[in-house]
Amino acid sequence: MMSLKINSLENYQEVYQRSIENPSLFWNEIAENFVWKKKWKKTLEYDWSIPETKWFLEGKLNITENCLDRHLELKGDQTAIIWEPNNPEEEAEHISYKQLHRRVCSFANVLKNNGVVKGDRICIYMPMVSEIAIAVLACARIGAIHSVVFAGFSSTALAARINDAQCKVLLTADGGFRGAKITPLKEIADEALKTCPSIKKSIVLQRTKQSISWNSNLDVWWHEELDKVDDHCPAEVMDAEDKLFILYTSGSTGNPKGMVHTCGGYMVYATYSFLNVFQYTEGDVYWCTADIGWITGHSYILYGPLASGATTVMFEGVPSYPDFGRFWEVCEKHKVNQFYTAPTAIRALAKHSLSFVNAYDLSNLKVLGTVGEPINEEAWHWYNENIGKKKCPIVDTWWQTETGGMMISSLANVTKDKPTFATVPLPGIQPVLLNTEGQEISETKAEGILAIKHPWPSLARTIYGDHKRYKNVYFSAYANYYFPGDGALRDKDGNYRITGRVDDVVIVSGHNLGTAPIENAINEHDLVIESAIVGFPDDIKGNALYAYVILYDENQASEDLVKEINQLISKKIGPIAKCDKIQFVSGLPKTRSGKIMRRILRKIASNDISNLGDVSTLLNPLIVEEIIKNRH
Ligand code: WT7
Repeated sequence: MMSLKINSLENYQEVYQRSIENPSLFWNEIAENFVWKKKWKKTLEYDWSIPETKWFLEGKLNITENCLDRHLELKGDQTAIIWEPNNPEEEAEHISYKQLHRRVCSFANVLKNNGVVKGDRICIYMPMVSEIAIAVLACARIGAIHSVVFAGFSSTALAARINDAQCKVLLTADGGFRGAKITPLKEIADEALKTCPSIKKSIVLQRTKQSISWNSNLDVWWHEELDKVDDHCPAEVMDAEDKLFILYTSGSTGNPKGMVHTCGGYMVYATYSFLNVFQYTEGDVYWCTADIGWITGHSYILYGPLASGATTVMFEGVPSYPDFGRFWEVCEKHKVNQFYTAPTAIRALAKHSLSFVNAYDLSNLKVLGTVGEPINEEAWHWYNENIGKKKCPIVDTWWQTETGGMMISSLANVTKDKPTFATVPLPGIQPVLLNTEGQEISETKAEGILAIKHPWPSLARTIYGDHKRYKNVYFSAYANYYFPGDGALRDKDGNYRITGRVDDVVIVSGHNLGTAPIENAINEHDLVIESAIVGFPDDIKGNALYAYVILYDENQASEDLVKEINQLISKKIGPIAKCDKIQFVSGLPKTRSGKIMRRILRKIASNDISNLGDVSTLLNPLIVEEIIKNRH
């Protein structure tokens, strides 16, 4: 049996080399570190022309035995989850591995009592309370497939996801606390369920105690159901390739894609990557600020940390409530050692006074992390200087819902970090850069389309109910490569920097223009924080470019600045990339994971504002009105 944790640069280089020379042998050894009910017969079988990928064939396991049962003997009393409430006046919860195991088993029995059997799809639409973690693990315990829908989604979005997976049971709550607001989850769910005939039961957690309407054909109370069960529940025997969960991610066109992750490979990769990137050490307190509704929450709040026997913090609230010091207050309070958040949160906090940071003792922090989008230079340095006090490595982790785990990232204190670079591939990951003809670029220093060459264990196996779309989106652009849809550049030392999506292309006068490089050019202007480019119809050029630009100081907006920005674009890319319209805005419409909703910006730029679609899932829905009001 080999040790899971890489401990030096030389060790990384040696392990990486071995992992790509013989991936099957490598992952075979890694997987030995987990609890299996029956050993696999073959490590890997794949054919990406179908596409099909299978890991640990005929192996049997249950991921919750790895996350819970196996820790009971040695660390049953250690805290598994620290739950921090939205309201700092409310008490935090410390749940030991023993208690978590009991609560998961009890709730698994509640699911069984309500007719759930292995293979059923269960929709989880809940706030960030400890019960959402218990619900997820209880599904896994009995082999039900969980589909967590982020509690910020609208009733239409919820219904679409329930119907796509034909979920049998909904797990929800009366409401959820988020900052100063309450989300009326039950009310939203009631609206959704009007069009969801597959749902036979809705199990409702009491959280906010607000008044709700009740459908006695469907609704049961969580706490009343718990009174009917005991806490003994054997773990269902799962095949390594059985489905563990579905998680929806938005596509560039059409309906959301229900990415399917399976039990064995996902467990092995989420855990291995967690331990190595964060260099988690026995006794550390680790905090990932994501929501369980996203892949980051699945892999790096729950499964990876719990399978590692870690103490993982779950936070119900938001970074701005009751004030902008909340994250740092929680770091001090729970003596957080590893802190993992998104660039969008860092930028929002960096806009406010440093007194919100300096009021707290951050001396326990050892490692900082970011995920979700490229981090800009200023935000990186702010994070490094003010939060890490220049003593904490920053792991900039590039990955996707589809990849299940982190793909390109430094390993804290093991490999070097580099501002704005995700840096190096994890063991077993083979990134390449392709040119537009789909050939691998052999020079080390290069820029191109990012692709991945060989399967890794936590690759999503399909899009639920639409394998054809899975093939089209990820395996058709370049034969025998997984295509993530991002562009990247590589420096002379082999470090990768993700430059942005490559599918946001605008054709102007017959020239294909990527929006990302134009935005990067604009962002180099000293007065600019961030920008977004979209195309809009033009009689002569086919499309013209519209730029939305955020300034550090709105008062600096002027006609002269418009000219300067276009000169900068001309210089960096060429006059063809000049913007016909430049609008200064105070913010951009973004998804909760920090991605710019270009669909909305495109419609506004085209003066097509009658049907903007559902904006309720945005991080900042109000910005849309401002942008419309001031549009050119
Ligand atoms: C897309 C995936 C992975 C969990 C959160 C987002 C972008 C993600 C980085 C990073 C630059 C990044 C990519 C990727 N992205 N991490 N460290 N640097 N870009 O998951 O919603 O599936 O989005 O987010 O464009 O393709 P997701």
